[in-house]
Amino acid sequence: MTELLRVTRLERRVGDHEILRNIDLSVARGEVLGIIGPSGSGKSSLLRCIAGLDPLSGGSVTVEGKLARPGDGAVGMVFQNFALWPHLSAEENVAMPLRVARKTGREEARAIARRMLDRVGLAALAERKPATLSGGQQQRVAIARTLAARPRLILFDEPTASLDPELTTEVLDVIRDLAREGLTMLVVSHEMGFIAGVATRALFMEAGRVLVDGSTAEVFTHPREDRLRRFLDSYLSRVAWRAAEAAQ
Ligand SMILES: Nc1ncnc2c1ncn2[C@@H]1O[C@H](COP(=O)(O)OP(=O)(O)O)[C@@H](O)[C@H]1O
Ligand SMILES: [Mg+2]
Repeated sequence: MTELLRVTRLERRVGDHEILRNIDLSVARGEVLGIIGPSGSGKSSLLRCIAGLDPLSGGSVTVEGKLARPGDGAVGMVFQNFALWPHLSAEENVAMPLRVARKTGREEARAIARRMLDRVGLAALAERKPATLSGGQQQRVAIARTLAARPRLILFDEPTASLDPELTTEVLDVIRDLAREGLTMLVVSHEMGFIAGVATRALFMEAGRVLVDGSTAEVFTHPREDRLRRFLDSYLSRVAWRAAEAAQ
């Protein structure tokens, strides 16, 4: 297995608040890593440090053996709130960063945008403005925009957290397809079933630390860590109505 991402003794502090503490992580090419943990445990901060969006207070992040720099295109990130430009069409939202950051010509950027929108099942809606698209469609445009830069690593930060359940499914289906295609991804999500099914490995974070780093079976099926068990139980009690209903 070739190593794609290496995080070594990563620390992030803001003032005297320790946000990330001594994080070591190695991710192989083609691996899909799920990241779970309570709110405030540092999941977004970890992704933002890997993407180069937040400064590190210590340690290092390398992608393909090189220090990652924002704007070098090695790492792409998809956010909870899509972050699309409201005045641009879906196609222009995907093409614009290529033209600005990569100096790709207008026609080529347009052709790439069309291909990427097709990849997320939105070819027919390329001319539409974000406000006329559903949340799930907007998030798929955002994924197409990230794919267009051809990153070696894609980070998803709660990509479905602001979507209704039905729209969540269409976005998770797109992410699942990307996993099948062999993309290397880190996915922060509270969709445990999705993570358990798609990820090969999962991290459980708490208070700025990685408490558990194991196979999805170790994390979801046979959790040994007490804190992780409680976290999963609280999640299960919220989705248990389905099982309770089926058992009647
Ligand atoms: N720029 C910042 N300045 C101060 N505190 C921050 C900053 N970013 C995040 N935090 C704090 O760091 C902790 C982890 O936040 P975050 O990474 O967003 O957690 P999660 O994504 O797991 O909910 C929280 O206590 C949050 O308030
Ligand atoms: Mg977060």
